[in-house]
Amino acid sequence: MARATIPVRVRWLATAALCAVAASGCGKTPEAVFVSSKRTTDMIRPVQSRVEQAVAENFGTPQNLYASLRLPIDYGTAEGVVKEGGGAGSNHFTYEWTKPETAEQLKKVDLTGAAFVWDSGPNTNVTITRQRKDVPAEFQVIGYHPTEQSIELSINVPDNPEPGDKFRVIGFGMQSGRRLYMQHCMHCHGVSGDGNGPTARYLNPLPRDYRLGVFKFTSTSSRDKVSREDLHRIIRNGIPGTYMPSFLLLKDEELKAITEYVRWLAQRGEFESRLNAGLKDYSKPAIDEREKKGESRADVEKELTKAATSKEFIAEFDESIESAFAGLSRDWGRADEASSVIHPKSGRIDPVADAASIERGRKLYLSDKTKCASCHGLGGRGDGPQTTDVQKRSDGSEYDKPGLFDAWDKEIKPRDLTQGIYRGGRRPIDVYRRVYAGIKGTPMPSFNTALKENEIWDIVNYVLSVPYNGKAPPALKEAPVATTASTAEE
Ligand code: HEC
Ligand code: HEC
Repeated sequence: MARATIPVRVRWLATAALCAVAASGCGKTPEAVFVSSKRTTDMIRPVQSRVEQAVAENFGTPQNLYASLRLPIDYGTAEGVVKEGGGAGSNHFTYEWTKPETAEQLKKVDLTGAAFVWDSGPNTNVTITRQRKDVPAEFQVIGYHPTEQSIELSINVPDNPEPGDKFRVIGFGMQSGRRLYMQHCMHCHGVSGDGNGPTARYLNPLPRDYRLGVFKFTSTSSRDKVSREDLHRIIRNGIPGTYMPSFLLLKDEELKAITEYVRWLAQRGEFESRLNAGLKDYSKPAIDEREKKGESRADVEKELTKAATSKEFIAEFDESIESAFAGLSRDWGRADEASSVIHPKSGRIDPVADAASIERGRKLYLSDKTKCASCHGLGGRGDGPQTTDVQKRSDGSEYDKPGLFDAWDKEIKPRDLTQGIYRGGRRPIDVYRRVYAGIKGTPMPSFNTALKENEIWDIVNYVLSVPYNGKAPPALKEAPVATTASTAEE
């Protein structure tokens, strides 16, 4: 038996499949292109092309997507074996799914356009010649007939597949995620997930740009990414007080498919920004800086271009691709581990039984330990002094306007707590998590080291009392108060 080379990436959607898959036809998405981030387009030419090439090679284009199998993404994979080959040089065969529990479900799924990988048998290492180079053949499913149990491939097989040859079909889940995303989310969040779809310009706050890999309203600790469950919840419920709608009407499996596609877009964007992170010296702002200091722009560009085409640069760049994959796989994988989720050990303090809790929370809110009021204001209206001071970026430089800014370099206001609108959810545990971990990508800091658990619960009680003139919110008076961490979720 030939040893199967395990591919690191597979192609799972081609132009033809896209038109067939998107029920609305290709006409509706005429300019479906992935755009590069500004940080990439700010690089000198050879560096920009290198970054763009690395992203395209690992993630593809909207018409020709790649599944990087090193990422912790569930692309939707089916495993099967050949029942009878169609003959050498043919492109079809009959099959059987190896996992009986998914066989029924696979009858209802469209596998057209999904990637196809031989895991055993004579066709595992098929190569084709492209640009005078032998490259591994990229099989795709172009015909799927679940009633006859037959599959047609995009490339003819040189050898007749033998009964029992193993194969995988990869990417059908993502394909449905992508279709739903293009239908429901693209007009706000953009084809690339850059938050810049056609309707985005009219909205405030802007739709999320996923490409930093940063999400705000997570249940995870401040160093952790968003979990699948968080994304699923946000997409299902929407974000109150913003234009992010709720998608309650979608089926659970549809929400799962969209969630996975959003994770893929986020990891694609983060891959690009991780590559950029080490290349600041090659960017326009860095060249501007050197020009300001008296160097000749032409000389600087010449020097950088020479450096960027050196063997050392290319070797380092290839290493940075590897470490970007390692980092993405580690960080996004960890977000779904149970230990990443914030579960306070003690339950919520009952603000009615312990009436002093709200007052303790108020004092903490006004204290120097938290400085909540410096942003949210003494009365909680979101008008603290930090909103009129000039702030500094993480690199020490000052913003040219006073006020707070987020990770996307957009102005941002602390929440007006008198409104009682909580974007990340209004359950006490949601507010607890906001205070414990902060709001990622925004100036709202985390307080897990500054405050003890009971102090955070006091603050939660205070925050929830602000819209009610310092009294516990009426609905919560009747609600049973949780005594354990697990019931605190309800
Ligand atoms: C009408 C515009 C609009 C549509 C349509 C829309 N969103 Fe959003 N979305 C937003 C806005 C605005 C925000 C930012 C809210 C904020 O920053 O508080 C957002 C934020 C998000 C976030 C970030 C949550 C976080 O914690 O950071 C996710 C994830 C998201 N949207 C997913 C989706 C998905 C998936 C769809 C389609 C099923 C979708 N959105 C459709 C406007 C939209
Ligand atoms: C440096 C400024 C800053 C400080 C200090 C700060 N916040 Fe915030 N806070 C923000 C900003 C900005 C937002 C809005 C973030 C967003 O949703 O985009 C916010 C949002 C919130 C929200 C809304 C959560 C939601 O789900 O919508 C709450 C509640 C909150 N802060 C409470 C607090 C408390 C309590 C403290 C002190 C323990 C505090 N903040 C300290 C800036 C700050």
